[in-house]
Amino acid sequence: MSKLNMKVSVTAKAPVNIAVIKYWGKQQDKLKIPINDSLSGTLNMDDMCTTTSVLIDETIKEDSLYLNGEEQNLHESSPAKLMIERIRSMTPIEELSKMKTKIVSNNNFPTAAGLASSAAGYACLAFALGHAYGIQDQTLLSKIARAGSGSACRSLFGGFVHWIRGSDHDTSLARQVVDENHWPDMRVVICVVNDAKKEISSSLGMAQSVKTSPLLQYRATKIVQERLETIKNAIIERDFEKFAEITMKESNEFHAICLDTFPPIFYLNETSRHIISICHLINQYIGQTKVAYTFDAGPNACIYLLKDFVPTFIGIINHFFPLVDHNSSSMVSKSLHIRGRPHHEPSAIDINHIVDHLKSSNVRILQNSIRYLISTSIGGGPELVLSD
Ligand code: DP6
Repeated sequence: MSKLNMKVSVTAKAPVNIAVIKYWGKQQDKLKIPINDSLSGTLNMDDMCTTTSVLIDETIKEDSLYLNGEEQNLHESSPAKLMIERIRSMTPIEELSKMKTKIVSNNNFPTAAGLASSAAGYACLAFALGHAYGIQDQTLLSKIARAGSGSACRSLFGGFVHWIRGSDHDTSLARQVVDENHWPDMRVVICVVNDAKKEISSSLGMAQSVKTSPLLQYRATKIVQERLETIKNAIIERDFEKFAEITMKESNEFHAICLDTFPPIFYLNETSRHIISICHLINQYIGQTKVAYTFDAGPNACIYLLKDFVPTFIGIINHFFPLVDHNSSSMVSKSLHIRGRPHHEPSAIDINHIVDHLKSSNVRILQNSIRYLISTSIGGGPELVLSD
């Protein structure tokens, strides 16, 4: 932070998180107090993150926010405006309490890919604003981020993070379960699925589920708490099989609630369901759980797996989801582009046997239905970016 003649400038970056116990439904809308606890893994910021710069300067007349180059409408009830005002009202530095701010925020991954960017975005906004206005308490910033977008409260911490639902602004809070160094072999591969359809947003979708789905109420009272304890222990003990089983069941149950919503919500598409079948067939063939899928409010698959299985999984995905240029006379298929961590090592397992097994189980090849892959790991929480 540089402070000279009442000018403050802070840049920070914050990570994306992918829930394995899903948040779906609010008890209280404005402060985003959820109906059930949830738990997520924080992804490595080297591969995916939001970067936000906050400038506070006496010459700035109005608050403004630019997201990926576009100015946003900061109307009085917008979550970002409420966040700015809340943090400004809490600043311990009196001079800053009357000064306006210009905020510039960018994602290092394509927002158009439909990947949950709001968690990283609001976490980064809370963290950068907090540091600019002199508030650094991580739990407090996490609560402020929560009021922007619920899942953002988990992105204030690295590793695996539990969001305790609580019942009001003070008691609904995120806590780290283990840090990013606890399970160094854990990896995440995201399959960015080709899909033109615009889904109903998480906020609208969950509001509709709360109103109409009896399964949502049943899950919140009867299922989540036990699963949460089991998956926490699986993470602490680095028990991938247990972790994977709960992750997949949770994803399936969340999408079952979406179907139970009236009218129903369809976030998964044919490619998503194909990926689900492939994961189960791989696990069955190997006789051990090697991959766990989870899907949020869209068709993209997030695969949790251990490091040694990443090349095998990517090889199989390349086989069943090739990129084919139908305009080229040769019609050669290309491997999917992989963003993030490079994978130079070949698969330790001969994938031909697995591919044959999948083919004999009637798994079809779906050309051009995955756009690219993001290969990443579990990472740390938000950080300040120091300027030279
Ligand atoms: C399916 O945090 O985007 O990704 O609080 O309304 O902004 P709002 O919703 P949001 O919902 C995320 C839902 C989810 C599951 C999860 O991340 O836990």
